[in-house]
Amino acid sequence: MTVSQAIKNEAIRLVEVNDDNFVDLMDLETAESQKGYVASNTVSMAQAYAVLASGKFVQCFGIYDGDTPVGFAMIGHRSEEYEGMAEVYRHSYYLWRFMIDQRYQGKGLGRDALKLLLDYVRTFPDGKEDAWSTSYDGDNEAAKHLYTSFGFVPNGEKDSSYEDAEDVAVFSLV
Ligand SMILES: CC(C)(COP(=O)(O)OP(=O)(O)OC[C@H]1O[C@@H](n2cnc3c(N)ncnc32)[C@H](O)[C@@H]1OP(=O)(O)O)[C@@H](O)C(=O)NCCC(=O)NCCS
Repeated sequence: MTVSQAIKNEAIRLVEVNDDNFVDLMDLETAESQKGYVASNTVSMAQAYAVLASGKFVQCFGIYDGDTPVGFAMIGHRSEEYEGMAEVYRHSYYLWRFMIDQRYQGKGLGRDALKLLLDYVRTFPDGKEDAWSTSYDGDNEAAKHLYTSFGFVPNGEKDSSYEDAEDVAVFSLV
C-alpha cells in the first residue's frame, strides 16, 4: 500500500509520553459528542501502565504542533487478550487510541499524525508484522473517512470489547 507521505503541518511531531508532558496530554479532550468514540487520555495512560507492568508492549505518544500538544496516540502489539478480540490483533500492530483535541481538529493534523505513526510502526519496535490494524465505531464518520482514505481496509471483523462492537480495519505493511 502506497501512501503519500507529504505532511501538511510541517511542525507536527510525535513525543513519547514522559514525566514532563503527561499532565498536558491528560488535559486534551474531544468534543462532548465524540466522547463515546475514544477513552480519555488519562484512562489510556493508566491502561498503558498496566500493560507495561505485565511485561507487554505498548507505546503512547503526544502529538505536537510545534510546542503545542494537540493530540494523543497509543500503539499496541499483542498487548492484551480478551473475549471478543479481533483475530487480526494477534498478528498486527494496532492503533489502539487516537485523538486530536477538539480545538485543533479539521486542520489536517489527524492525517499528518497518522503518517508519523505509520513511520513509527514501520520501525517494527516489537518485531516484524505484516499489518497495522485499528477499529472504529460505525457512526464515527470522521475516523471512518480518515482511516479508509489513508489505506486501512475493513476486514469484516468486529472488536466486541466495546459497548457497540467496532469495525476493524487493516493497513498492509507489506
Ligand atoms: C478522528 C480525528 C482524530 C480526526 O482528526 P482531525 O485532525 O480532525 O483530522 P483531519 O483534519 O486530518 O481530517 C481528516 C479527514 O477527515 C475528514 N473529516 C473530518 N470530520 C469528518 C466528518 N465528521 N465526517 C466525514 N469526514 C470528516 C476531513 O475532511 C479530512 O478529510 P480529507 O483529508 O480527505 O480532506 C478527530 O476527529 C478525533 O479526535 N475524533 C475524536 C476521537 C476519535 O474518534 N478517535 C478515533 C477513534 S477510532
